[in-house]
Amino acid sequence: MGQKIGIGMLGAGNVGGGVVSALPTLNNRYLNLTGNELELLKVLVRDINKKRIGLNDSQLTSEIDDVISDKSIQIVIEVLGNEQPACEYIKRCLDAGKYVVTANKEVMAKHGAELLDVAHKNNVAIFFEASVGGGIPIIGPLMRDFGANKLTSVTAIINGTTNFILTKMSEGDISFEKALIEAQNLGYAEPDPSSDVEGIDAAYKLAILCSLAFGFDVDPYSIDRQGIGSVAEQDFKYAHDLGYTIKLLSTARLIDESFSVSVKPTLIHLNKSLAKVDGVLNAIQIEGDLIDQVMFVGPGAGPQPTASAVLADVLELVRNHLDRGSYSVDHGSLKSMSVQSKNDVKSRYYLRLIVQDQVGVLAGIAQSLGDHGVSIASMIQSGEFSIGDTVELVLTTHLAYESAILSAIEHVKRIDAVQEVGNIFPIDGVEEI
Ligand SMILES: NC(=O)c1ccc[n+]([C@@H]2O[C@H](COP(=O)([O-])OP(=O)(O)OC[C@H]3O[C@@H](n4cnc5c(N)ncnc54)[C@H](OP(=O)(O)O)[C@@H]3O)[C@@H](O)[C@H]2O)c1
Repeated sequence: MGQKIGIGMLGAGNVGGGVVSALPTLNNRYLNLTGNELELLKVLVRDINKKRIGLNDSQLTSEIDDVISDKSIQIVIEVLGNEQPACEYIKRCLDAGKYVVTANKEVMAKHGAELLDVAHKNNVAIFFEASVGGGIPIIGPLMRDFGANKLTSVTAIINGTTNFILTKMSEGDISFEKALIEAQNLGYAEPDPSSDVEGIDAAYKLAILCSLAFGFDVDPYSIDRQGIGSVAEQDFKYAHDLGYTIKLLSTARLIDESFSVSVKPTLIHLNKSLAKVDGVLNAIQIEGDLIDQVMFVGPGAGPQPTASAVLADVLELVRNHLDRGSYSVDHGSLKSMSVQSKNDVKSRYYLRLIVQDQVGVLAGIAQSLGDHGVSIASMIQSGEFSIGDTVELVLTTHLAYESAILSAIEHVKRIDAVQEVGNIFPIDGVEEI
């Protein structure tokens, strides 16, 4: 015998609109298969007078209590965005015995463990597939399909806005500023792009992935983070000459009893799959002892892909959890883990310096690097982008500790002929150039 499953939704913007437009087709199929129907009963918005396609006035409310007190609502979809009041509303819904599906990475990165606990205490669940990677299924695989593995690394391109900007710069010899304006004109970047451009959005998502992949409770603000604002046109030129491109890479790697976690512009060899993930696409690569390496690629944002993930969570709840009582997540085992210090993180590096075009400069720089145990792997000298009697010097290093690179650079800056240290980016992978 079919039943109606009452749904409440908090927010009807981009993602909420995607859910509303996908629901009728999904319901047709679902009704045929199971006899059940998903019924969107209440939708919380700020402005109830705004016209919303697919929603009528009786569904809209600006009062959260209308959703929480409605006993026929079993599942609440949270697509408001931002930390508050979303987090508070989610807690209240869970306390009221409702299942919750959220797309909110900020809330899950900062309060995920607490919310899973509140859900557990109330014999319900909170699902969050859409919070990382938009339409890419990654939370489900990490919670279930890789369960038999000891996972060792997560390497990901998880911010579509920055990937679009870097792809444009890579293809077109254009500046960061021009690429950002293009992203804004196309609706890929917010008017205030700082959360994306500074890597904050990616850090939230990486924190969520770390908790699932390794069982670590990672504070997103403890992640070593560098935004893409300093990436220049010439960095792409030199990277290409060396056989690389540049991506904002989110990386978490388990090393013995600690792990390194960072979000940074990173050189990736052009023959690597991640180097070919362009535009607004996202990709997440997982390594484990049994699976070796698996990569997921797909649309990391957008109303329809995100609605796909949200509604998949709703269907999973309806099929396997509603009316079955307790749902338990292994959240109690989230451990605090020591994040590796810069003394322990090893990588190869790309350095771009602006120097006076005179004899002996390179020797001085090589000496400073060598004194700190950093050896040069390759070098490019170019006058193409420099002014007056300066040239740009691009060096790549062999594997070196990050702390060693940073101390060496402090010495390099004191060399009279060194005018500026442009950029320092890690190079992905351990193979030599
Ligand atoms: N956009 C994407 O592609 C994407 C992808 C993955 C995940 N997400 C996540 O999905 C969530 C929603 O994103 P979005 O792009 O759909 O946001 P959005 O377009 O800004 O929509 C937000 C909606 O929430 C409502 N709202 C916000 N604050 C409210 C409040 N205090 N009380 C009542 N209603 C409130 C707004 O009401 P009004 O319409 O009345 O203003 C609007 O309908 C975010 O957590 C985001 O990170 C988004």
